Amino acid sequence: MLTHMGLRLDFLPIQSDWDEPVVPAPQVDALPTEVPAEVPAMAGLVPMRAGRDTAATRAAAVARPDIARAVRPDIARADWGQLQEAVRACQACPLCASRHQTVFGMGAEPPQSSDTEGVGLMIVGEAPGEHEDLQGLPFVGAAGQLLDQMLSALGGSRHEDGGRLGRVYLANVLKCRPPGNRNPQAEEVAQCLPFLRRQIELLRPRLLLAMGRFGAQALLAEQMPDVAQTPLGQLRGRSYSYEGIPLVVTYHPAYLLRNPAEKGKVWADLCLAQSLQAGPKMGA
Ligand code: URA
Repeated sequence: MLTHMGLRLDFLPIQSDWDEPVVPAPQVDALPTEVPAEVPAMAGLVPMRAGRDTAATRAAAVARPDIARAVRPDIARADWGQLQEAVRACQACPLCASRHQTVFGMGAEPPQSSDTEGVGLMIVGEAPGEHEDLQGLPFVGAAGQLLDQMLSALGGSRHEDGGRLGRVYLANVLKCRPPGNRNPQAEEVAQCLPFLRRQIELLRPRLLLAMGRFGAQALLAEQMPDVAQTPLGQLRGRSYSYEGIPLVVTYHPAYLLRNPAEKGKVWADLCLAQSLQAGPKMGA
C-alpha cells in the first residue's frame, strides 16, 4: 500500500526540521506588482480595490477572516448546475482573461436530497496549473498523479465510488489558473471562495482534506486569525472543524514532488484523516 505513494518503510516516520516557508520567494518575472484599479465584476459583486501586491501581503490577506466569510448572494443559493454555470461564466477577477477553461472540480456527484449521504472525502487544493487549465479538470498533472497514488493507497479513487474513503471529490480554492502558476492573490480568493464554500455545502463531505497552504488558509481563516503566519508544518498533524466537518491539513502533492522525504508526514495525515471519517461508509 505504501509503495503506491513511493514510500519505503525504512524512512517512516521522517522528522525534518525544514518546513515549507510561510512566504515563499516571489516569482518576480511572473508577478504583476499592482492589482488593476478596477476589474470587470459580475452583477452584485464588489469590484476589486487597487493596491500594492507583494508576496507578503498576499500570504496574509488570503487568510483574512473577512475574505473567508465573503458572501455572494447569487452563489449562496445556487444548486449544483447553477454553480457550475456560474463558475464557467465567471468574470469577477482578471484571471478570466488568461484562462483557457475554468476548473470546477471532479469526482462524486452531490447528494440528491438532505436525507442522502454526502460525499466521503473532499480534497481542497490551491488552483489549476497548466494542464488543469487546458483540460478543465483538477489535479491532472504530475501532482495529480501523486494524489491519485495517495488515494489508491487509502483504497479510494476520484473516478469510482466506494472504497474505505467513500466517494471522493477534488476541488481548488481558485477555479482559474493564475498566470505562470503564481500564488493566488487575496482579491482572487475573495471572489472565488464563495464557490468553494457552496460546493462544500452541497457536497456535505464527511471529511475535508486541505492540501497546501492556500487550501488550509481558506478553510481555517475564520477560526484562526494567525493562520497565514503559521507554517504548514505546524498546521498539519491534527484535526480541525470547518462548519462542523472534520478537517485535516497536509502538504500539497506538488510540494511532495520537490520534497519526497516529507511523504511520511503526509501518510500520517492521511491516516489521521481516515480515522476521523464519521458516519456510514459507502456500502455499509
Ligand atoms: N495543484 C492544485 O492545487 N490543484 C490542481 O488542480 C492542480 C495542481
